[in-house]
Amino acid sequence: MSAVRTLAHRFAQGRQVDFWMRELDPTWSLDTLRARVVDVIAETHDVSTFVLAPNALWPGHRAGQFVSVEIEVDGVRMERCYSLSSAPGDEHLTITVKRVPGGRVSSWMHDRVRRGDVLRLRKPAGEFVLDAVGATGKLLLLSGGSGVTPVMSMLRDLSRRNAVNDVLFVHAARSRQDLVFEQEMAELAARHEGLRVKYFLENDPTRGGRLDSAKLLAAVPDLADRRTMLCGPAGMMGALSPTWTDSGLAHRLMTERFASAPRLAVPSGTAPAKVRLALVKSGRTVETEQQGTLLEQLEGAGERPENGCRMGICNTCLCRKRTGVVEDIVTGALSSAPDEDIRLCVSRARTDVELAL
Ligand SMILES: Cc1cc2nc3c(=O)[nH]c(=O)nc-3n(C[C@H](O)[C@H](O)[C@H](O)COP(=O)(O)OP(=O)(O)OC[C@H]3O[C@@H](n4cnc5c(N)ncnc54)[C@H](O)[C@@H]3O)c2cc1C
Ligand code: FES
Repeated sequence: MSAVRTLAHRFAQGRQVDFWMRELDPTWSLDTLRARVVDVIAETHDVSTFVLAPNALWPGHRAGQFVSVEIEVDGVRMERCYSLSSAPGDEHLTITVKRVPGGRVSSWMHDRVRRGDVLRLRKPAGEFVLDAVGATGKLLLLSGGSGVTPVMSMLRDLSRRNAVNDVLFVHAARSRQDLVFEQEMAELAARHEGLRVKYFLENDPTRGGRLDSAKLLAAVPDLADRRTMLCGPAGMMGALSPTWTDSGLAHRLMTERFASAPRLAVPSGTAPAKVRLALVKSGRTVETEQQGTLLEQLEGAGERPENGCRMGICNTCLCRKRTGVVEDIVTGALSSAPDEDIRLCVSRARTDVELAL
């Protein structure tokens, strides 16, 4: 009993320390990753870079990883993932956010977040990293729109380590006004002999026009010899990926998606009209007729499971499924064995399900 009291005392002390330290430094925390916004840089008409000074809990990141930002809009907590555009070891972290028309978090970031504000973050995550493909050898960094952010981090990282050996940076944008990091890219190309930069501007046929597979192959004749890191809008990724997959080069290509892949349709007659979700920790049972994901169903029932990307990428919503059958809404894979970890945001119940929530 006294051990419990000691623990409770320490916990209370910890919370008091947390409270008073936060009065002195709003990013201070014993257990929560926070970052102060030290600057907001307008890159284009709809893209801004947020320069962040994280607290001591920041574990460091690898070039290409993303961080989940949590904000509260009108009392509703929301999280979105943003790739870090800064290089590991830079003085500050940066995320570079495009305003999505009608988008809740990106609009809030642009309209409301100012220097001095404090953002709540999660630990960096993601496997779209250079060391996964090796930094040596020929490299193609290929991006479209705001997909430039993770590859910019990689390029900055290579530059900082003086390892820009043979890098081709190909970027597609709608127009000249939409080019992010154009000036820095020119400076990097001037500094590193091993870097070549090529832009494709959709609205300007004299600057490449809309990038497609044929244009890419013409611009990168040694594509088969290069490792490629590709990040861009869904349409661009869909149009360009076959360049590798159709010629047996899929192993040379690594991709990152910012938006979810299309959901598989529910085959008629296979999904139960009603599903019961039993939540082991809270003892609650949720009955729902919805056909959405477990995350949507739980939220619809007033639960608040942790989540980040909501598209099966960040693993924030990982949850132990005790019993029942769930289907991955993107791949169609079934999880029917007991005690398997599933991602709530891309899982659809096929039977009643028991979750360790
Ligand atoms: C790994 C990863 C890295 C990422 N990195 C970056 C990055 O570096 N930079 C960047 O800018 N983005 C990045 N993103 C995308 C980012 O996470 C957000 O998805 C993006 O900012 C949009 O979020 P939002 O809240 O503004 O839009 P949301 O509110 O989620 O809306 C998205 C779209 O849905 C529409 N919509 C919203 N609500 C409704 C509704 N009720 N009915 C119909 N339509 C609706 C909106 O109009 C909008 O078009 C990344 C995503 C991932 C997964
Ligand atoms: S919320 Fe990111 S994997 Fe589910």
